[in-house]
Amino acid sequence: MIEQMGEDETKIILSSFSCPLNKDIENFLKNKAIEFSKRTTAKTHLVFWQTDDRKYKEFVGYYTVASKVITVDRDILSNTEAKKLRNQGIYDESRHTYTVPAPLIAQLGKNYSNGNDTLISGADLLHLAVNKVRKIQKEIGGRFMYLECEDNEKLLAFYTKYNFKIFGKRALDRDETDVKGEYLIQLYAMF
Ligand SMILES: CC(C)(COP(=O)(O)OP(=O)(O)OC[C@H]1O[C@@H](n2cnc3c(N)ncnc32)[C@H](O)[C@@H]1OP(=O)(O)O)[C@@H](O)C(=O)NCCC(=O)NCCS
Repeated sequence: MIEQMGEDETKIILSSFSCPLNKDIENFLKNKAIEFSKRTTAKTHLVFWQTDDRKYKEFVGYYTVASKVITVDRDILSNTEAKKLRNQGIYDESRHTYTVPAPLIAQLGKNYSNGNDTLISGADLLHLAVNKVRKIQKEIGGRFMYLECEDNEKLLAFYTKYNFKIFGKRALDRDETDVKGEYLIQLYAMF
């Protein structure tokens, strides 16, 4: 997008994003997404709704994906799950943990500007993010992915409904000042 339209035009589109429910999601897109993308730390994908004749389109949400690994305690896994992690990663005998490659869905949010959030469901947005990761994994291998969210009943219900499973929590980084609470819950999914 930056290559085709230039950074200034791209920033104008990003500035039309609003997410009152989660300021971290809004601030990341407006202040960090371009830099992270250039540094290849994490890649952001914008989602647009459009009419069938493609005459009208609206910016309805975005997600960001980053290349990471996760470490999961053996104790929280069934034997079948443990086997799948063993096949993909490394087992640490002293810590009883598996470490496997797992892309991170680092950000995901609907655009609440002008009611654009009503043009997409969270489920559709999550499926787009999951499908993007699955598509890459079909090419390079891998079957895990994960995400992190605030310890919020509604967000946790949303992700667990779509087969993400809690495996841990982590303290906030110093620059994560827009996140509510003192830690993030980590959830993974396997395919
Ligand atoms: C998460 C999200 C994609 C889910 O979309 P959805 O399935 O269409 O669900 P809705 O937007 O209707 O939200 C469902 C409920 O969760 C609540 N909710 C959503 N995000 C929330 C947040 N960050 N904090 C607190 N509550 C939140 C909504 O207010 C709504 O509450 P209600 O049932 O009382 O009306 C969407 O709510 C969203 O973009 N939220 C803001 C960004 C965000 O927090 N992303 C998650 C980062 S981990």
